[in-house]
Amino acid sequence: MAKRSIKKEPIVSVSFGKVLRTYNGMLRGFRWPFVLCMLVAGLAATIGVFTPWFHKAIFDLLVQSEPSTQVVDKALRVVFWFAIFLLTQFVVWRTSGFITAWAIPSASKRLHASSFAYLIRHSYRFFTNQFAGSLVRQMNRFIDSFLELHELVQWEFLPLFISMVGASVSLSLRNRWLGIILITWMIFYLVVNYGLARWKLKYDEQKSIADSAMVGALSDGITNSLNIKFFSAYNGEEKRYAESVGTFVRWWRFNWNLSEAIMAIQVFFYIVLEIGIVYYAVRVWGSGLLTVGDLALIQGFILQMIGKLWDFGRNVRRLFELSAQASEMVAILETPHEVKDIPGAKPLRIERGAITFHDVSFHYQKERGIIRGFHLSVRTGEKVALVGPSGAGKSTVTKLLLRLFDLTGGSIQIDGQDISSVTLESLWRNVSYVPQDPILFHRSLKENIRYGKPNATEYEMIAAAKKARCHEFISSLPHGYETFVGERGVKLSGGERQRVAIARAILKNAPILVLDEATSSLDSESELLIQQSLAELMKGKTVIAIAHRLSTIMKMDRIVVMHNGKIIEMGTHDELLKEVGTYQRLWNIQAGGFI
Ligand SMILES: Nc1ncnc2c1ncn2[C@@H]1O[C@H](COP(=O)(O)OP(=O)(O)OP(=O)(O)O)[C@@H](O)[C@H]1O
Ligand SMILES: [Mg+2]
Repeated sequence: MAKRSIKKEPIVSVSFGKVLRTYNGMLRGFRWPFVLCMLVAGLAATIGVFTPWFHKAIFDLLVQSEPSTQVVDKALRVVFWFAIFLLTQFVVWRTSGFITAWAIPSASKRLHASSFAYLIRHSYRFFTNQFAGSLVRQMNRFIDSFLELHELVQWEFLPLFISMVGASVSLSLRNRWLGIILITWMIFYLVVNYGLARWKLKYDEQKSIADSAMVGALSDGITNSLNIKFFSAYNGEEKRYAESVGTFVRWWRFNWNLSEAIMAIQVFFYIVLEIGIVYYAVRVWGSGLLTVGDLALIQGFILQMIGKLWDFGRNVRRLFELSAQASEMVAILETPHEVKDIPGAKPLRIERGAITFHDVSFHYQKERGIIRGFHLSVRTGEKVALVGPSGAGKSTVTKLLLRLFDLTGGSIQIDGQDISSVTLESLWRNVSYVPQDPILFHRSLKENIRYGKPNATEYEMIAAAKKARCHEFISSLPHGYETFVGERGVKLSGGERQRVAIARAILKNAPILVLDEATSSLDSESELLIQQSLAELMKGKTVIAIAHRLSTIMKMDRIVVMHNGKIIEMGTHDELLKEVGTYQRLWNIQAGGFI
């Protein structure tokens, strides 16, 4: 049907039962509101079953007697009780509505909180493998699915079940065969509709894939709006988008036609039931075994059933869809966190801030070792620079120190404590990390800087900004420290963003500092500013800094040259320059003005 094959999202095989168990687990301690919701809604539906019996009572009374004040009085008495009955039903339904209105938002709050808490603790590797947008969508779907699942069960499946039982029992009480006809019909109806619903599911899935492709095309277009302008591609892009809409519309129409066909089958079922039951009832009435009131009773039940059965197929399909929608997030919630505290992990206690890498080895994928036999001891307060060609493993070493990944072999110790046996929180509290391209929250500059120390005073915050050389540019902004920085900090230049990240690290004031290429791709003036701010930041700390521009690290205590995951040279700038080796070669190239 689709002209182009659409990239299918991976289907996650999580069963409906698993989805329910996940919700159940997350709402532990909060189940009773749902039991209450179901009990009250069940009670309301059960009361509803008696409505046709009142109709029967009134009909029987009116048909069997001539009009007289006495009969009218009797009938009005029935009407009076009917009114009380309807009011009771009304009160119970509304009560269940209000209980639900209280329970569901509270449950949603719990689901949001616990799924966010679990999701955000996933490892660095996890987030590098996932798109933020897709995670956001999965989490929303997971929570929305719960709300809709609950709604389906409480307002559709439960009342349907109760009214089916009620109708079967009521008709059987009047005439055994009427009951049998109804039950047989119901079984046929449910089985056929369930089957049709399951069969239609695959077409629904196609429609939603086409829908995702359409949404994807739209967002891709919006993201690339500048490319579209500069490459004069309006026409091409319009055509592209129209094509994806076209595919979606074809599936939509196809599904709509299927629904119409299924509806036709349903209506055929109703006609058969109506004719069958009424025919049989009239025959039985003819032999004097049923009254006119019974006919009203039967008709009442049939109408009640048809009303509730009409959406059965659609609701079954919805049930599967919701389960599928929730399943991606369930899989994420079921995946154990890759990097986590070992049982009984103790907080890291820093006395001096000395770091030892002992025979460290690591690989991202088994086939390709990245770090091999890496030995390095960094003394308290020492400032060590890591240099080496691109892909040598410099950033990886810093990520291992931050325990974003667990080692494949060897160990890393800080003040004699293995980083894999201390709590992650205490490790991260004691290490400041300034990446090359820092990401900022879409919050005010003030909040971004304060992230390093949430209880910092205004004075401390501004002092840190001054040391990081970002006070001037911030003061020149119309909203100053209240300026919002845009998603990921896009409204700032690269150099400004780095200085804000440095201010944040100055405020955090952790004893160990890790800098990854903090001064790459900057003009000389910004580089000078950053150098000054980094010098402030490094004071009195143990530092590991990665740099490509060797001019920025000349003054470091020690320079470590890496190649292919190993240390190949080590010493001060002057010592290394004397040896004929990689450092000397790199230095000569850079001094020659190539970089
Ligand atoms: N998340 C990852 N998954 C798989 N491989 C990775 C990942 N990150 C890095 N690598 C690989 O590991 C090797 C070392 O990468 P690393 O980022 O440590 O290099 P680097 O020395 O910092 O280089 P550069 O100077 O270019 O920043 C590279 O070959 C890279 O392709
Ligand atoms: Mg790197």
